[in-house]
Amino acid sequence: MSSNASPLPLDSVIPRPTVVRPGRGSFVLDGDTTLAGDSAACDWFRRHVGAAVGLPLRESEHADITFLIAPEEIDAPEGYRLDITEHEIRIRAHDEDGAHYAAQTLRQLLGADAWRAAPTRRGPWRLPCGEIEDRPRFSWRGCHLDLARHFMPKREVLRFVELLAAHKLNVLHLHLTDDQGWRIEVPGLPRLTEVGAWRKDSQLGAGPEAGRTERPHGGYYTGADLAEIVSYAAEHRITVVPEIDVPGHCQAAIASYPELGNEPHRQLDVWTGWGISEHVLNVEESTVEFFCRVFDHVLSVFPSPVICVGGDEVPTDEWERSPRCVRRSRQLGLSEPAKLHGWFLRRIIEHLHASGRRAIGWDEMLDSGESLPAGSIVASWRDEQGGVRAARAGYDTVMCPEQRVYLDHRQAAGSEEPVPVGFVNTLEDVYAYDPVPAESPSALSRRVLGAQAQVWTEHLDSPSRVDYAAFPRLCAFAEVAWSSTAVRDFSDFRTRLTTEHLARLTAFGVQFRPLQGPLPWQRRPGVPGKPR
Ligand code: ACM
Repeated sequence: MSSNASPLPLDSVIPRPTVVRPGRGSFVLDGDTTLAGDSAACDWFRRHVGAAVGLPLRESEHADITFLIAPEEIDAPEGYRLDITEHEIRIRAHDEDGAHYAAQTLRQLLGADAWRAAPTRRGPWRLPCGEIEDRPRFSWRGCHLDLARHFMPKREVLRFVELLAAHKLNVLHLHLTDDQGWRIEVPGLPRLTEVGAWRKDSQLGAGPEAGRTERPHGGYYTGADLAEIVSYAAEHRITVVPEIDVPGHCQAAIASYPELGNEPHRQLDVWTGWGISEHVLNVEESTVEFFCRVFDHVLSVFPSPVICVGGDEVPTDEWERSPRCVRRSRQLGLSEPAKLHGWFLRRIIEHLHASGRRAIGWDEMLDSGESLPAGSIVASWRDEQGGVRAARAGYDTVMCPEQRVYLDHRQAAGSEEPVPVGFVNTLEDVYAYDPVPAESPSALSRRVLGAQAQVWTEHLDSPSRVDYAAFPRLCAFAEVAWSSTAVRDFSDFRTRLTTEHLARLTAFGVQFRPLQGPLPWQRRPGVPGKPR
């Protein structure tokens, strides 16, 4: 068991705070330490950190640790100030978010053992004296998680929520539907999960040499499961943005209800390959109504002000071949069937906006050349130009370019990476990403809500594979999204990571990729990748 005789340095926090002023001495947390405040962060600290350090952290009027929501003192949304002396800890926050982030900072400063689920030693638990002032650079600090390609048990999603919050990320974008699986139960449409949530087998690896798992796969979340995830995320100040991907990436839905497809008499399977299925939704009014019904259910489960409609990678061949689609596109006054993509998205977005929510979609939504309903948000993934185009056209954007922040892409060149796919996005590459570089047009800087890392799971078939892909790159990404450029420095980050933070992740039980490369059991010899 490690001892904690001297406290961690005040500047060991990830993501790096705006201002850190180390002091002298330390505050000792023990059985007599009391807690008070007007914030839910107080309860969070008692429950999560109290459990790890094994202290009651009782409430008291004249408490040693005080949380105060004080927007008149702390002007930045989500910002906080932490004053630690030998006698007390004072937290001032702009809002509940800021108070929560202060509590997360305190947990980091308590050291790795404060990241465990139960106490492993008696103490002492020391916090370094000094002051921290902190505020985020961006309001959208997202991580996307693909639950469609590989289902993740609910408890693993809850654990992922904790890890995002620990890094001050505040959006969890859940990719709930795709060609290979439908993961959300929808009342009245039982086949979506009876049929759409299961596949016979899966492709193993990528490229022409890919194999087969020869093992069925599946799973879905009930309304209660999703309500629990939403509520747990809210306790961690995270908004869950659900994605129902339309009108492409819909083969699991079409397998469930063939009348949604362009060959209604053909029974498709939930797809067992990776890539982009050629089977897309048809454009009948009944199909639009079906998906409005699905989205209405989504709205009842997810309070998020923003809902994702997907909209990426929509092959138009079926529409071009189908006399009904060609006729429909003419009736709608569209110049060609390919424009049905934009038309379909517009119908769904208008429905969401009429319900008081905002739609976000992948940057293909700009390709039709038609304007999108005002208030739509564009997720710029194919490169950064999607964001620039969106900003110029007057839409807000979230920057998530695959060349920089796709965490399923390989973390190093060479053959050691398990199932090496995509671009090389090293820890340093992710760290170096700037969603709004200094030379960006001012139109962009006004429209960038923030940035989002993506965790696609075609080749991440277990929670430990997700851990490996996400960590520690997500720690670097957290600094991209939270920390001001003035305090960002890769070598300083790397020192904080290796000296203190990897120990925190280890204590939490994260099976991250060691900086030197994969451990022997993290490799996947014989499973081919497809580097780009
Ligand atoms: C995407 O990666 N297809 C958004």
